[in-house]
Amino acid sequence: MPDRQRIHRARKAPLRGLFVFCLILVAAAADATGRPASDAIATAHPLATEAGRLILEAGGNAFDAAVAISASLAVVEPYGSGLGGGGFWLLHRARDGRQVMIDGRERAPLAARADMYLDAQGDVIPRASIDGPLAAGIPGTPAALAHIARHYGRLPLEVSLSPAIGLAREGFPIDAVYRRMAGFRLEALRRFPAAREQFLVDGEIPPLGQVLRQPALAATLTAIAESGAAAFYHGEIGARLVAAVRASGGIWSAEDLQAYRVVERAPIVVHYRNHRVVSASLPSSGGVLLAQMLNMLSARPLDELSAVDRTHLLVEVMRRAYADRATYLGDSDYVPVPLAGLLSPAYAHRRAKTIDMARAMPSVAPSEEADEGRDTTHFSVLDREGNRVAATLSINYPFGACFVAAGTGVLLNDEMDDFSAKPGAANAYGLRGNQANAIAPGKRMLSSMSPTFVESEQRVAILGTPGGSRIISMVLLGLLDAIEGRPVEDWVARGRFHHQHLPDRIQIEPGALGTEAIGDLERRGHQIRQLDDTYGNMQAILWDRRSGEVTTASDPRGIGSSALMPNSSVPAMRQSAGRIRLRAGRRLP
Ligand code: GLY
Repeated sequence: MPDRQRIHRARKAPLRGLFVFCLILVAAAADATGRPASDAIATAHPLATEAGRLILEAGGNAFDAAVAISASLAVVEPYGSGLGGGGFWLLHRARDGRQVMIDGRERAPLAARADMYLDAQGDVIPRASIDGPLAAGIPGTPAALAHIARHYGRLPLEVSLSPAIGLAREGFPIDAVYRRMAGFRLEALRRFPAAREQFLVDGEIPPLGQVLRQPALAATLTAIAESGAAAFYHGEIGARLVAAVRASGGIWSAEDLQAYRVVERAPIVVHYRNHRVVSASLPSSGGVLLAQMLNMLSARPLDELSAVDRTHLLVEVMRRAYADRATYLGDSDYVPVPLAGLLSPAYAHRRAKTIDMARAMPSVAPSEEADEGRDTTHFSVLDREGNRVAATLSINYPFGACFVAAGTGVLLNDEMDDFSAKPGAANAYGLRGNQANAIAPGKRMLSSMSPTFVESEQRVAILGTPGGSRIISMVLLGLLDAIEGRPVEDWVARGRFHHQHLPDRIQIEPGALGTEAIGDLERRGHQIRQLDDTYGNMQAILWDRRSGEVTTASDPRGIGSSALMPNSSVPAMRQSAGRIRLRAGRRLP
């Protein structure tokens, strides 16, 4: 069950005396102008939420807060995202309604080749695209942060990066999630000396509560704060990155870093039951798959189905959309993708007609088990002007490539594993692809990250989650909850299930479906995989446009926190277990 303590309603702010009266006036005015009654932030780490809050208090907008949160997550959640990674920032600017996806996805180095992870027999070399610098794409996060600050923010980078610099310099206490993720990647972290030094203590997982300082990362962040993204992609830091990568078997060049560009892309938009769903466009598969699934559900409505019929229908819709992912999707700047056809309601209706409510449709191809995605991070921000950000960021596997470029503090991604190393071969998450997602120099690898807005006349939802290939099915379940009018705490806490075409299994979180429902699904021909552990870490915000009320929730599976700020001087902030406080003395310059 959701932890109700973590759900915050703007109207619960303390109201006293004249201050009360002023607040009511402000709130009423806000409602009358159709603006949110408060700022809201939900992130996967309390210190990142606090960083966003500080920046909003300093006069920043949601975009400045997004820069502060992204950089702070790079410090306190090094297993999820970072300067050495990339991501997608979905923005809505209130003043003109502009909606844009900032594509800060990594790209393949210019020396990359389609067969770079294959041996002489043409087989995929195990872990070659996961551990070490050969697995790393050219990072996009530093360029994206500078771009967002410059074109959408109100504050200079020196201000919006200051909380992250403080966290890197002064340190943060090790939490249980850090320990679990470091345990998962311990062998690889031990293998690469600068990563071992930065993230382990004498080669072991740091104890709970130990303060982890990252002075080299603080210096890199400071250089970016002072000189912008050029400090990362050019000059001394860039030279160190390239030298370290090449010294350990990687293929980066100075040209790779200098040639990196952020791309502004139109998001994918789909209409479903009087709602407008806005999500990530290629090179993420997220928005395309969400659109396909929602279009199929328009043809085969969920209304009035029994719970088990509903699960069966959702699984069959997921199966079909993920099958198309494997066949058709890749970086559309490099390969032709039949996007109009894939997104057309007519195509979805034809596919939906093939769904038999009594029988599972087998996914015809060899199937093998795969790792379960725990990586990546998501945050959501709304400010009182109505600006909003949904951002999903990654370095791929927990702790990425487990390789830190010496003297930079930058942990590199292993996002190259998101390419299809060989047509039909599964990646770490069991996802397959073909030529469309083959490796090519400068190409962006296909992603599942799905930062999403759901909009109607009455409500606006901002949501997303980490979780590898399961991101898209989690966002589907969450946005259906939003559209069906459930409260925000239900979207983040609900039991989850997932199907990705191959392996041909329904993955089910512990307790998400009852024994009877599972038996019924098995009788329809579904193969079931009951998971030992939960997955996902959704961060969500809901704004009721009519009343102005804002609610927010952080997934109870994680240690994240959500915050509402009805008035900057009276933050209503909660956080989940772990209760990490921003260290005293960390203030904006
Ligand atoms: N690396 C996870 C994703 O982009 O989907």
